[in-house]
Amino acid sequence: MTSTNTLTTEGPGTLGPDGVARFWRDGFAGPFPLGLPDKELAELADRCERIVEERHTQPLYGRYALRDWHLVDPDLERVFTQEAIVGRVVELLGPDLLLWRSKIFYKPPGADAIGWHQEWGKFDGEEIGNSTPSLQPVGDGDDVWDLTVWVALDDVTPENGPLQFAAGTNTTKVPWVKVPMTQSAFYEEPFVGLTKEQVADRTRRSELVLDIDTAHWLDGFDVDAASLEELTSYLHGRFDELLAKFTDFEPAPGTVATMVMPRGSFVIFSERTMHGSPPNNSDRRRMAVNCRLTRADTLVYPGRLQGAFIDGSNLDISKHESLLVAGRSLEPRNVIRG
Ligand SMILES: [Fe+2]
Repeated sequence: MTSTNTLTTEGPGTLGPDGVARFWRDGFAGPFPLGLPDKELAELADRCERIVEERHTQPLYGRYALRDWHLVDPDLERVFTQEAIVGRVVELLGPDLLLWRSKIFYKPPGADAIGWHQEWGKFDGEEIGNSTPSLQPVGDGDDVWDLTVWVALDDVTPENGPLQFAAGTNTTKVPWVKVPMTQSAFYEEPFVGLTKEQVADRTRRSELVLDIDTAHWLDGFDVDAASLEELTSYLHGRFDELLAKFTDFEPAPGTVATMVMPRGSFVIFSERTMHGSPPNNSDRRRMAVNCRLTRADTLVYPGRLQGAFIDGSNLDISKHESLLVAGRSLEPRNVIRG
């Protein structure tokens, strides 16, 4: 199936039995239309761009983060709680659902590729070398208890870094290795277009690379005496002391599906499906947001029960709440917004 998809517009917004079967075969479904006004989504996209470009502090986490702005911005919450999304995920995971995470995925012109990867486990931050589970599913965890919904806030074209899936990889765990961070699937060069002062500033404020605390990396490093090149090469060295995830994977011929889709459409996928995105080779921004929905019997942030409030992405989740978006709350220890 080497394909660029076409948008499904018919139907009241369900997958139906065939769509459900196809989902579990391929590992993804969509794109489908959200049915929200284009203007509202364009404004939301601009707001998300400012969050990234201006390094806004996420009030919940007290620092720059791209996670969980749906708990701060009601428009983003509205996007993720549309019946078009929730109804379909109910068909896949059952009637009781929590929305527990979201993230902004911004690809400006020239942005790097995100390499092929899959997430098999419990969102423990292994991609940056951590091992703190975010979810504790009921049972042995062999079945799928969490799905991701990816929403385009800009038109996604073949050139501007579309999400891609390797269809049918959702049932095969591909081995991965730990490599120096700058070689991982997730590393994006953070120095492009910055002056030495800006690099130093962002380093001290931990705003250089998401989820990495760089606040003290320049302690004892003579920034004034160093050139921009010396500074960035020093920081590369520091990144490479950290290990991150790399999956050696090439999709089988004919299995890559490229999600070319208009603003206001979404895809649903299992993180077990190999996915990634090519670089943005266009002169247009590609703004997207994702959210993660889990069955309501899943315990979110199990470490919380032992007083551990730093998650696998090095965020303090003591103020985090899940949203019950369908059915009943089935795990009394979860923190759910009332
Ligand atoms: Fe991913």
